[in-house]
Amino acid sequence: MRYKIVAGNWKMNLNQQQAIQLTNDINEYLSNHDLARQVKVVIHPPLPYLANCVNYISEKNSTTFGVGGQNCYTQASGAYTGETAPEMLKDIGCQYVLIGHSERRKYFNENHSLLAEKVDKALEAGLTPIFCCGELLDIREAGTHEAHVEAQLSESLFHLSKADFSKIIIAYEPVWAIGTGVTASPEQAQDMHAALRQVIAKKYDKDTAENTTILYGGSCKPANAEALFSQPDVDGGLIGGASLKADSFTKIIEIMTKCVKTM
Ligand code: PGA
Repeated sequence: MRYKIVAGNWKMNLNQQQAIQLTNDINEYLSNHDLARQVKVVIHPPLPYLANCVNYISEKNSTTFGVGGQNCYTQASGAYTGETAPEMLKDIGCQYVLIGHSERRKYFNENHSLLAEKVDKALEAGLTPIFCCGELLDIREAGTHEAHVEAQLSESLFHLSKADFSKIIIAYEPVWAIGTGVTASPEQAQDMHAALRQVIAKKYDKDTAENTTILYGGSCKPANAEALFSQPDVDGGLIGGASLKADSFTKIIEIMTKCVKTM
């Protein structure tokens, strides 16, 4: 099912009190504003605060406001010191998990096959994977960005059955736009999202491609959210820096709601 999603990736930021305050502020905003039916809001707090943040989401918002991990491991339990099973995320009330964020690929050497396993295990645990893909600047400059991102999907997702693939959310995040203040232009985002839908249609079918939720990530903020979210193949954003403050994050939610209503 294709949704409109505003997701916040808090990365390794905030302390416990700030994390709770931010969750509370977003919860309060959602309690006082009607979102369009297909809009969902997700936060990805740091692991130690996850369970606490889940508890600050009121019952009334529980169908719109979800929490996700930033990563998970490939096993359900066992002697894997320091790792988190997808089942554990599910157990504490998470519904989502980020898989393959470019920072995991870069700093923790996560490769296609490991990510494919993480996707499988997250699905098995009943979580919705938000699978991140995107190219480095040199790949964009060489003009091979579409082939690069297609390979990321084909290596880590295209082993899935159609039924399982339809549970995946994709986040296209050009690495050169992450945390840099440089955003992909709405046309660049649209072109890549449309290209991704074509690859998905080729692998599965047109319906599956049309029903896939594809988010844009990389310096998305209130000033550029409307131009990005108005693109026909952009279903929302995975927001880093601008998700750390309630006013900018809720402003982006407001923009998304407005975009959906004028579509
Ligand atoms: P940014 O991060 O919005 O700070 O660029 C996005 C992300 O890494 O998910």
